[in-house]
Amino acid sequence: MELDELPGVGETTAEKLRNAGFKTIESLAVANAGELKEISGMGESAALKVINAARNSMKMGFVTGIEVLEKRKTMRKITTGSGKLDELLGGGIETQAISEFFGEFGSGKTQIGHQLAVNIQLDEERGGLSKSAIYIDTENTFRPERIIQMAEGAGLDPDRVLENIIVARAYNSDHQMLMAEKAEEIIKEKNVGLIVVDSLTSQFRSDYTGRGMLADRQQKLNRHMHGLQKLSDIYNLAVIVTNQVMMRPDFFFGDPTAPIGGHIVGHSSTFRIYLRKSKGGKRVGRLIDSPNLPEGEAIFSIVKEGIRD
Ligand code: GTP
Ligand code: MG
Repeated sequence: MELDELPGVGETTAEKLRNAGFKTIESLAVANAGELKEISGMGESAALKVINAARNSMKMGFVTGIEVLEKRKTMRKITTGSGKLDELLGGGIETQAISEFFGEFGSGKTQIGHQLAVNIQLDEERGGLSKSAIYIDTENTFRPERIIQMAEGAGLDPDRVLENIIVARAYNSDHQMLMAEKAEEIIKEKNVGLIVVDSLTSQFRSDYTGRGMLADRQQKLNRHMHGLQKLSDIYNLAVIVTNQVMMRPDFFFGDPTAPIGGHIVGHSSTFRIYLRKSKGGKRVGRLIDSPNLPEGEAIFSIVKEGIRD
C-alpha cells in the first residue's frame, strides 16, 4: 500500500511526507504526532489523522496474547559463534530486539559485533539468516581484515561477506542518529537482518559533557534506541549495541555492572550482556536482565577464527 492510498492523504501530502523521510505506511504508523508535525509542517490534527489512518491500515494497537505469540514465532536467533554464549541467550541473539553488550575496553564488544555481522550471513542450519548487516561504526574500529579472518573461520567467501556488510562511519551523535534513520532504505534494498551500533554511547558521551547536558543526552539516546527498536520490530531484524563501561575502584564492594556515567541505555535494551576479561584470555558474558531467560554466565574465547567456546 502506498502513502497516497491512505484516507485523507492526497498526492501533495504524500509527497511532503516522503520528503520528510516518511516513505512507508509503517514509518507513519509508529511516528508520533509532535514529531510528524515538526518534520512535515502539517498541523497537529492533520498529523494525528494521518498516523491513525496508517495504524488502522496496519491494524495496530491492542492485540491479543495469541497475536503476540504469532509475532514471536517469526522471531529468529543468530549464533554468536560460542555454543555456551548462545545457550545463555536462549539460542543466540534475537531478532525483534536490541541486545546490549557492555563492558570495559578489550572485553570483546567489537569482536562480537564483527562476528555477528559475519554470522548473520550463514544459512539457517548454521545459525544465520542468509542476510546482510549494517555496521554503524562510531569509534573507527571496524576492521575488514578481522572480518576476513572470521569469514574464513566460518568457511565463507571473505569477499562476499565483506560485500554484505554495509559500514557507516558516524562522526558525532547527530550523525549517528541520522545513519540509523537512513538505515531503513538500505534494509529494504539489501535484505538486512542485523544492525550493529559500535559504540552506542561514545559519541554521546563526548557531545554531551557536563551535568547540565545529561537530560538532553538521555532524551536523544532514548530517541535513538526507539528508532532502532522500531526497525527491529518492523523488519524482524536483530540490533546489537555496545556500551563501554569503566571498572570502578569500589568494584569489590559495589555492583560491578554499575558504570561511571550511569546506565544510559539499560531500560531500552531487551537483553543486556555484561562482558569481562577472565583468566587465560577467556571472556565471561553475564546475562543481566532478560524478559524470558534466567540470569547466568557463559565463558567464551576470542581466537583468530572469531568468537568460540
Ligand atoms: P573497547 O572498544 O576499547 O571498549 O573494547 P572492546 O570491548 O570493543 O574490545 P574488542 O572487542 O576490541 O576486543 C579486543 C580484544 O580482542 C583484544 O585485546 C584481543 O584480546 C582480542 N582479539 C582481537 N582480535 C583478535 C585476533 O585476531 N585473535 C585473537 N586471538 N584475539 C583477538
Ligand atoms: Mg570496541
